[in-house]
Amino acid sequence: MKYIVTSALPYANGKLHVGHVAGAYLPADIFVRYLRLKGEDVIYICGTDEHGTPISISADKAGIQPIEVVKHYHDSIKAAFDGIGIEFDNFSGTARPEHYEQAQQFFSDLFANGHIKAKTTKQFYCQHDARYLPDRYVEGICPKCDSPGARGDQCDKCGQTYETTLLKSPKCKICGHEPEIRETKHWFIQLEHFTDQLTQWIAQKDYWKENVRNFMLNLLEQGLIERSITRDLSWGVPVPLPDTEGKVLYVWFDAPIGYISSTIEWAQKIGKPELWKDYWLDPDTRMVHFIGKDNIIFHALIWPAMLMGQNTPYCLPHDIPANEFMNLEGDKISTSRNWAIWVDEFVQDFDGEYLRYYLAANAPERQDADFNFKDFQLKINGELNNVLGNLGHRVFSFAALNFDSIIEQVSLDEAAQAVLTQADLTMAEIAASYEDYQVKRSTRLIMEMARSGNRFFEEQKPWLHVKTDKEKVKQTLWVCAALLQRISVALSPILPKHMKALRQMMSLPDLLKWDDAYAQRDFRLSEFKPLLKKIEDEAIQEQLDKLHTKANDKPQKTYVPVKEQITFEEFSALDLRLARILEAKPVPKTDKLLHLKVDLGFEQRELVAGIAQSYKAEELIGKTVTMLVNLQPRKIRGVVSNGMILAAHDEDGLHVVLSDGGSPGSPVQ
Ligand code: MF3
Ligand code: ZN
Repeated sequence: MKYIVTSALPYANGKLHVGHVAGAYLPADIFVRYLRLKGEDVIYICGTDEHGTPISISADKAGIQPIEVVKHYHDSIKAAFDGIGIEFDNFSGTARPEHYEQAQQFFSDLFANGHIKAKTTKQFYCQHDARYLPDRYVEGICPKCDSPGARGDQCDKCGQTYETTLLKSPKCKICGHEPEIRETKHWFIQLEHFTDQLTQWIAQKDYWKENVRNFMLNLLEQGLIERSITRDLSWGVPVPLPDTEGKVLYVWFDAPIGYISSTIEWAQKIGKPELWKDYWLDPDTRMVHFIGKDNIIFHALIWPAMLMGQNTPYCLPHDIPANEFMNLEGDKISTSRNWAIWVDEFVQDFDGEYLRYYLAANAPERQDADFNFKDFQLKINGELNNVLGNLGHRVFSFAALNFDSIIEQVSLDEAAQAVLTQADLTMAEIAASYEDYQVKRSTRLIMEMARSGNRFFEEQKPWLHVKTDKEKVKQTLWVCAALLQRISVALSPILPKHMKALRQMMSLPDLLKWDDAYAQRDFRLSEFKPLLKKIEDEAIQEQLDKLHTKANDKPQKTYVPVKEQITFEEFSALDLRLARILEAKPVPKTDKLLHLKVDLGFEQRELVAGIAQSYKAEELIGKTVTMLVNLQPRKIRGVVSNGMILAAHDEDGLHVVLSDGGSPGSPVQ
């Protein structure tokens, strides 16, 4: 059986927090590791979701290009995944050329097959910024629930959608002015064309999680309506039709196609460029999408419809295990209030696998879960340390003391056999739980197995009989070691690093398959090095203090990351001079551009500067500014711009770097 396992592509617009990990990433990583143990052919695919208005708004605010925001967070998110052992076969991004090609192909097929129609709609438009304001570019008061902070056509508070024109007190997110309503052309996917196909498809999905299945049945019952799949933006995949300048595909249209483009990238990277087809073009491939519950509509309805409308026979999702949310200390995780645990910070203070264990044992599978630091401490100390650590410690130290660390296989009496038989039933249940994405249950069952070992050891009291009944003592020890061997396999999808270490200490071969759990053998133990460290109260208090202090701080201002170092020679290549502005006038039909004439002493030059929103032409005349004079000339709106004025960008706009006088032409160093 071939599997494509995916995790929702995280937006490249922020760092990774534990809520993300608990919902879409850890459960998938565990599932993939389990499938590999079972010998299944699986690829695990992800990447960053690099479009959408929040990313371009971040870029606007910081005065940088969206691609710079994307690069920064792509790397940060990837590093966080590395820190907690989430191992994708490929981690791509949706701003790459291969993705653009695939996304446009998807649109073109749907369009050619009559599933996309154009329509003129009403949209907010900011005169001041001379642009349309899609999605999060406009904010106002929700017409349904009166909450502030509502978006153009949807309110995050009440979750309702409405006609754009109904939003109360709309404000432009960029400049704060009230926008007007203008007409604009957009493209809509005709979801109702797929009603029958989707209904038949969903009818076979009786094994889906109830939340996902019911959601779908509900939507189908209400009747499907067309959805807009384009936006007036400059950042995104261009609409592949003539005369569509300034129109891009809606982020939620292009993002899931990232699962395909990332697989193609994977195939290219491993030097088998056609291999992706073995997975995507096989109708029997099991494609499993791990997501959070807020992504259900896109994965269970729109994405399958998009796939159904293609000329290429892609496989459809096999399952969509959507998880609920993870709260934090009883309150919703909120990045804007800084009420979050960031993965990169967490792994500086604790082993990344502690986080994996806690999020697995406390997974938000059927209902929302809560990340609670005291509970985290309790689970690590009480379960991993006391139960599992204790079993390991007993077996190793007793064997070292009495049997030179060699535990021979012996025949078992009834009581010993019973423990092992029970363990093997539990192992089967653990496997079934993994298969059914019930990681929480797997974790509980594994701990039960470890507890049964401790109980057996205590009942048998080998320390009393080691002189008198050596055979019986050997049995006790062998059964406990056999349990540890089972645990080293069963727990490896959750704690891969720790279980690898445990197997090394037991001189067991590197893990290959689930069945290695049952290998019959003598055990040769090496010295027991405690695998786990207890978490002290102080460490937990520190975390709680940090959390509360951060949340009380003002939202942190984000700064553009510092660029790579350059040499003095590289700096010297920039020819910076003082320039006096002689003339300034607006460039017709633009809001941002000024046409300047400057005196450089040795010559006069003309250039175009994008500073009209912060400076009136008159106020600049006679001022001395700093200018880069050896930049290649560029034609902007019909004017050859010969140089660049230095200016800084912040939330209030642009600030030209003014020099207090000085003679034009003087070099700046
Ligand atoms: N970026 C989206 C989110 O974080 C998820 C995109 S999933 C994809 O909610 F399938 F569309 F890629
Ligand atoms: Zn505006």
